[in-house]
Amino acid sequence: MALFRFPMLFTLLLSSILFSNHSVKCDHDEEDDLYQGINNYRKSLNLISLTKNENANCFADEIADQFKNQPCTNTTGANTVPGTEPRFSNYPDLLNKCHLNISNTRDGSVMPVCVPGLVPSVVLANFTQSLYSANLNDSKFTGIGIGSEDNWIVVVLTTNTPEGSFVPETFNGANLISKIGLFYCSMLLLVGNLFLL
Ligand SMILES: *[C@@H]1O[C@H](CO)[C@@H](O)[C@H](O)[C@H]1NC(C)=O
Ligand SMILES: *[C@@H]1O[C@H](CO)[C@@H](O)[C@H](O)[C@H]1NC(C)=O
Ligand SMILES: *[C@@H]1O[C@H](CO)[C@@H](O)[C@H](O)[C@H]1NC(C)=O
Ligand SMILES: *[C@@H]1O[C@H](CO)[C@@H](O)[C@H](O)[C@H]1NC(C)=O
Repeated sequence: MALFRFPMLFTLLLSSILFSNHSVKCDHDEEDDLYQGINNYRKSLNLISLTKNENANCFADEIADQFKNQPCTNTTGANTVPGTEPRFSNYPDLLNKCHLNISNTRDGSVMPVCVPGLVPSVVLANFTQSLYSANLNDSKFTGIGIGSEDNWIVVVLTTNTPEGSFVPETFNGANLISKIGLFYCSMLLLVGNLFLL
């Protein structure tokens, strides 16, 4: 019997690692809270909900990563004076990492905020009670991506026009294939676990 226990434990371990990695990457709690909070705010303004956009998520993560070592001050994040936003010289590289470029992101909006501990109610207020609220109250935006690192959380809004879709022509196929791959791999592990139990 001991012989059969090992592969079962092994596949359980492997699948829990796979699944936990996946959920850590896609669903930080703070990000989910903010997503719900922003859509409730949109609802209160009689605007349609923003749908999640994977590429915008990826880009929000990259931007959060650039900000993460900067402290929160009264001139950063939602307190930034318009026109003094930090410019990253590697912006095109960051877009590139998410298979994006300036032509499909130009109309989007990138909104970083800095809140110690990412306290959900304070984070949401930083979006709904700052200059950013004008973007949240804009019907041209239809999609959203959220990324966070340390005290920084970044929202990227997308449009349904080619200039702000955050969806490159060439990426759809690769995205689908990786999704099918992940699904296949999960099913294989699930079936393996059931069989061994
Ligand atoms: C920001 O904080 C500094 C001190 O840290 C203060 O001198 C300045 O007046 C503040 N600016 C605003 C706009 O609150
Ligand atoms: C944004 O968050 C900071 C904490 O970093 C807080 O001091 C500030 O009051 C918040 N701004 C708004 C508009 O809620
Ligand atoms: C949202 O936008 C509409 C029209 O653009 C405006 O009438 C309304 O006052 C705005 N609401 C908020 C909370 O900004
Ligand atoms: C951006 O990507 C699109 C297709 O994904 C391509 O047609 C376009 O030429 C690219 N633009 C730039 C500036 O690289």
